[in-house]
Amino acid sequence: EKEKTLAMIKPDGFSGNYMDKIRKVILESGFDIIREMMVRLDAGKVTQFYAEHSKKSFFPSLVEYMTSGPVLIMVLEKPNAISDWRALIGPTDSRKAKVSHPNSIRAMCGLDSAKNCVHGSDSPQSAAREISFFFEDIVPGFVKHDE
Ligand code: CMP
Repeated sequence: EKEKTLAMIKPDGFSGNYMDKIRKVILESGFDIIREMMVRLDAGKVTQFYAEHSKKSFFPSLVEYMTSGPVLIMVLEKPNAISDWRALIGPTDSRKAKVSHPNSIRAMCGLDSAKNCVHGSDSPQSAAREISFFFEDIVPGFVKHDE
């Protein structure tokens, strides 16, 4: 059963000429890119999108980072897309990714735990919320629940 997840190439990934490499890894890993959209996020959108982090100390710098340039939003589809995309991007802290997951996308283009180059939904619930946040016409089903 196919599953959808939300992927985002953040401003550092977008500006650092990693776009083509990231797209290549995505396609070679068996994901279909079913939607894609370049957007420039404003502080309001970032605050909504990352609402769960709004009380964290790093939140102001997260807003500054995410509004520093355009991002590419993608809906990826394949069986097990949510956890496979999280595995492919690697740990949040790109410095750890470089050590423990050298083939991950964050090892390739991330800098640290803040500037980590890409985003991926962390659960079916987040995927549903995040996909409909950017693509209102897609209403992802919760296809991964146990039968
Ligand atoms: P992401 O996986 O998109 O989800 C939340 C984002 O907040 C994360 O990537 C980072 O960009 C940022 N973030 C998470 N943890 C930290 C941290 N400890 N310090 C700074 N930024 C962080």
